[in-house]
Amino acid sequence: MVFQTFVLLSTVLDLLYICRALMELAWWVWDSFLRPMRNLKEYGPWAIVTGPTDGIGKESNRLARYHGLNLVLVGRNPSKLSLVSTEILKMNRSIEVRRIEVDLEGDINEGMEKIREGIEGLDIGIWINNAGTGYPYATFLHEADEELVARISE
Ligand SMILES: NC(=O)c1ccc[n+]([C@@H]2O[C@H](COP(=O)([O-])OP(=O)(O)OC[C@H]3O[C@@H](n4cnc5c(N)ncnc54)[C@H](OP(=O)(O)O)[C@@H]3O)[C@@H](O)[C@H]2O)c1
Repeated sequence: MVFQTFVLLSTVLDLLYICRALMELAWWVWDSFLRPMRNLKEYGPWAIVTGPTDGIGKESNRLARYHGLNLVLVGRNPSKLSLVSTEILKMNRSIEVRRIEVDLEGDINEGMEKIREGIEGLDIGIWINNAGTGYPYATFLHEADEELVARISE
């Protein structure tokens, strides 16, 4: 009797465990592949992205491609900005792109003024503050270059 109860209990536990795993799998499939995308345009037709010229920021073209958002690109390097905006426009002919040249390590008040002027009259729904810097490779804090740590923390 004790043995039968033990087998029954462990079977129920196993089934519960399997159900949980199946539910997690179903949620992952829904979340990764099936869930409809949020309509970002409902916040406004424009998005602003700082640091769109490299790394993660370059993926801002997805805002145009998948959501049809117009983009304001804020960067410090005019030729990289021009290249990125040309690429985005080539892939998304129905959107507009504005470029604003600002070095965020420079005079921040001047930079903000430039951005304010650049976005005047635009209905910005999304603002992505992506510009920044990181370690060139994974490292412990105490082994990192002090100057770089200071720049990242500023
Ligand atoms: N990659 C990661 O694993 C990771 C992890 C955690 C957090 N982050 C953060 O995510 C952000 C993007 O990382 P990422 O790896 O894509 O970096 P990235 O490849 O170095 O790109 C950084 C972007 O920011 C721009 N930028 C840097 N300093 C700027 C300044 N003073 N003024 C204007 N623009 C400036 C760069 O412009 P230029 O093209 O002119 O250089 C570039 O477009 C950073 O804030 C980083 O700290 C990244």
